[in-house]
Amino acid sequence: MSGIVGYIGNSSAQPILLDCLTHLDYRGYDSAGVAISNLEKIELRKETGRIEDLDASLQIDPILEGHLGIGHTRWASHGAPTILNAHPITDEKERFIVVHNGIIENYLKLKSHLISQGYLFVTDTDTEVIPHLLVEYDTGDVEETVRKVLPMLKGSFALAIMSRNQPDTIIGISQENPLIVGFGNNEAFLSSDIAALLSYTKEIHPIKNGEIAVLRPGEVKIKTIAGDTIHPKKRIIEWHEDDFSLQDYDHYMLKEIMEQPAALKNTLKGRLTETGVQLPELDSFFEEHDVSQFRRIIIVANGTSYHSGLIGKKVMETMLDIPIETAVSSEFCCEHGPLNEKALILIISQSGETADTLSAWSEAKRYGCPTIAITNKRRGNLARKADYTICTNAGPELAVPATKAYTTQITVLLLLSILFTEKTQGPGLNRVPDMIKELHQLPEEVDKTLIMTQDAIDQFAQVTEDQQSLFLIGRGLDYVLALEGALKLQEVAYLHADAYAAGEMKHGTMALITPGVPVIALSTQKHLREKTINNIKELKARDAFVVGVTTIGDDEVSEIVDEVMYIPEAHPYLMPIIAAIPLQLLAYYAGTVRGYNVDRPRNLAKSLTVE
Ligand code: G6P
Repeated sequence: MSGIVGYIGNSSAQPILLDCLTHLDYRGYDSAGVAISNLEKIELRKETGRIEDLDASLQIDPILEGHLGIGHTRWASHGAPTILNAHPITDEKERFIVVHNGIIENYLKLKSHLISQGYLFVTDTDTEVIPHLLVEYDTGDVEETVRKVLPMLKGSFALAIMSRNQPDTIIGISQENPLIVGFGNNEAFLSSDIAALLSYTKEIHPIKNGEIAVLRPGEVKIKTIAGDTIHPKKRIIEWHEDDFSLQDYDHYMLKEIMEQPAALKNTLKGRLTETGVQLPELDSFFEEHDVSQFRRIIIVANGTSYHSGLIGKKVMETMLDIPIETAVSSEFCCEHGPLNEKALILIISQSGETADTLSAWSEAKRYGCPTIAITNKRRGNLARKADYTICTNAGPELAVPATKAYTTQITVLLLLSILFTEKTQGPGLNRVPDMIKELHQLPEEVDKTLIMTQDAIDQFAQVTEDQQSLFLIGRGLDYVLALEGALKLQEVAYLHADAYAAGEMKHGTMALITPGVPVIALSTQKHLREKTINNIKELKARDAFVVGVTTIGDDEVSEIVDEVMYIPEAHPYLMPIIAAIPLQLLAYYAGTVRGYNVDRPRNLAKSLTVE
């Protein structure tokens, strides 16, 4: 997973490319590089680390000034994050210069063929086969050569290519992997994401599979692989620059945590009426399908999206009385039991780009399963593929750790649970009026929770500073939320945080409890409260340092724990959203107190376009 950019126009390319790359570094930050052309020569520079490191290197030792270039920010998949493996990647004589996102699945076969032809490989990347292939099949015209080579490449990838023989041209290609052309005033851009383009243009064309973008001074042509020119349907970007700026926050993670009341309002807007739920994007789904006829309903996702899927599963199956299954995408695409058109697949992905999830979608389609996507990218890859799409409308999420994605995804799953229950007359029908009433209050309750918990969490985060590990426990929905809380602490604070079903600690993990070990005990589900309290007592008997997260006024929990974090009380199905807030804040403060870059945790990237 990486970010790629391109620029051609009247301005100096280098600052624009670096600025655009800065907006893409959520896609990877192991190394960065640029290639700049002055229409006669092309020069390259790459550095390990982030865009700032590349910028510093260019300041100390500038490369040529030019009005055309390409750039890359890398999340290392094939090969260590070294300068050699950093992009742009070239052939031996730097005749072709390539930046690449995604994966060339058949690169090993191509590589051994090219080695047998005498090509020398110097990187560990899959990318390197591309410049060598371009040399091997060079017709003297870069566009024609690319058209010859493209059918040889298998996988999902986006590429920007330059050629030393034609230093006035940039070629952009997208195959199942995002790449957008931006149209400016006598200038044009390429970018993996619109986030990088907002301060330059709002007019874009996402390159489709089988299209090639050819950027030359004063012209942009979109062509088919056969070479026919296509008239692009330009689109106007709906998001605003403000959505992508830090405003007064130090980190995107905190900004996005604090944005949740507004994000939830957007998720609910137009969907929640006084008495019911409407999701017009599913009208044709309900015309074509009877939910009660599905033999399997499977929720498939990765990471935080998988955790919101687990909450969805628990709520949905109690309301519908139909067993709901969950699977992580990377497993589902390999093993999934019997599938056919009677299996409904709900696929969740904030980015709509995650390769594992897209591969799970392909697997579902191979068996003819209907698919509903829940995504934050209305026009992303997943939305384009799925039969039906519900957008979470959370606004851009730029911090690598997902926060508002999680709460808005759960909200969509609650809306879906209500609709499915109404359609199937499921046993949860009598809970619907209360859920609707409380969903109306949800943004306000989340706002209250932010105000109530922020200071207390900040203090508790200081306590965790010297700890290496931490446990989270809960029962039912609290257990599922504990999994997400643990993931956040691992990602952001590099803490060895583990989540356990509260009753399960005594079957083994209790051996790890020594005096002072921090445990966060979630008790937000009233019907499970007594049992959870017993489990907390077991931990206290071993002198663990227990922080209880419970609803306002629950004195019984507060009396037995060391610290208590009160949150507002809502319908039990809404509690995983409200109780997520203190856990997100805890991860944020635990990460910042340790001095980590919470927006860009080590070894991670926002959306992973490799399996
Ligand atoms: C990466 C991110 C996680 C995210 C997961 C799924 O691993 O670091 O934060 O939850 O991908 O992403 P998606 O965009 O498919 O929801």
